[in-house]
Amino acid sequence: MLRFRYLDFDGQTKSEAEINSPVDGEKAILDLLDDTKMKLPYGCRSGGCGVCRVKVIEGAEKLLERGFVEEDTWARCHDTNDVRLACQAKVLPGSTGLIVMCPAEEIK
Ligand code: FES
Repeated sequence: MLRFRYLDFDGQTKSEAEINSPVDGEKAILDLLDDTKMKLPYGCRSGGCGVCRVKVIEGAEKLLERGFVEEDTWARCHDTNDVRLACQAKVLPGSTGLIVMCPAEEIK
């Protein structure tokens, strides 16, 4: 089981979700959360707008490295290394455990 926790700006848990089906490495965080009650902010869902930027507080090792599109937006936003695009960051196949995120604006 893979669990997600999303914190508010004050560090309190805003929402939590569980993914019970095996993760196959094809779906980004935002896609995985589509079938859950956890709703993250998003815009384009294609990596360009940066609205879905999240700071990954715990579980970053469960994510595949940035692809070209995510790398470009990350650089344009001048983000720190722990900021990922929820619409582009894919979870490593077979991952279990907990991924904790908060809004990327928290770090600025
Ligand atoms: S929703 Fe636009 S970059 Fe993720």
